[in-house]
Parts: sequence; structure tokens; C-alpha cells
Amino acid sequence: MYTEQVIDHFMNPRNVGEIESASGVGVVGNAKCGDIMKVYLDIENGIIKDAKFKTFGCGAAIATSSVATELIIGKTIEEALLVTNKKVMEELGGLPPVKVHCSLLAEEAIQSALWDYAQKYNIEIKGLKPPKLEEEGSEESLHA
Ligand code: FES
Repeated sequence: MYTEQVIDHFMNPRNVGEIESASGVGVVGNAKCGDIMKVYLDIENGIIKDAKFKTFGCGAAIATSSVATELIIGKTIEEALLVTNKKVMEELGGLPPVKVHCSLLAEEAIQSALWDYAQKYNIEIKGLKPPKLEEEGSEESLHA
């Protein structure tokens, strides 16, 4: 059902954790499955120096967060915006259809963290849309 890449990223997730005084933090959740993803970005001169995540969710959500953070580290903000769920799925060699929404969560978490960064520093990021409203209680669940 899962590719080797998915299993690898689930068993050995990269970039798990948080960044103290992160430039931007994004939290997204899926109301249907209840999974929550939090992404921290460290941005300097328009470059994503570091990215970390905490995912309270399924194996595919953990694997997609792991790949997504790997894909954006060292990239410009504009390049990070091109890391869509399709790109994440490509890197993972695909996901079962019922798990496609997990990759969407990764895309949304990155964009939400970029939005937070843009708001904090009053920057306009072309092509970036405001994130959907967070699930209620998502913050608490992550700190539990
Ligand atoms: Fe919802 Fe995976 S089942 S994020």
C-alpha cells in the first residue's frame, strides 16, 4: 500500500521538532481525520535556512511533513511556494488515494508558516493566499 519512501520517512522522519523564535509558524488541521501539522520556519534574507515540524497525525502525514521540510530547506520563499502536495507526493513515489489529503496538509502548513512570517514582518509574498482558519484546539493538542 505504501512506497518504500513513505515507510522510510515515517520510520525515520527528518526535521522533527520546533524552532525557537521561528520566523514563521503555521498550524493546519484536517477536520475530517483530526490530524494536525505544525511547521516552523527560520528565514534569513528570503532563504529558508531551517524548517522543523510536529505532526499529530497518521503515518502519511508524518512522511509528507518530513519530505516537505526537506524540500524547502535552502530554498527561496518563491521556490518553497512551488512545493505543492503534488511535488510532495512525487517525492514519496505516490500515496494511496485515501491519503492524498495528508500531502495537502503539508502544502498548507508551509504556506501557513510563510503567511505568518509575512504578517510578522509586513512583507508581501506574491501568490501566497491567507491560510484557512485553524481547527479549534489545535495548538493545545500539539502541546499536550
Ligand atoms: Fe488525515 Fe493523514 S489521515 S492527515
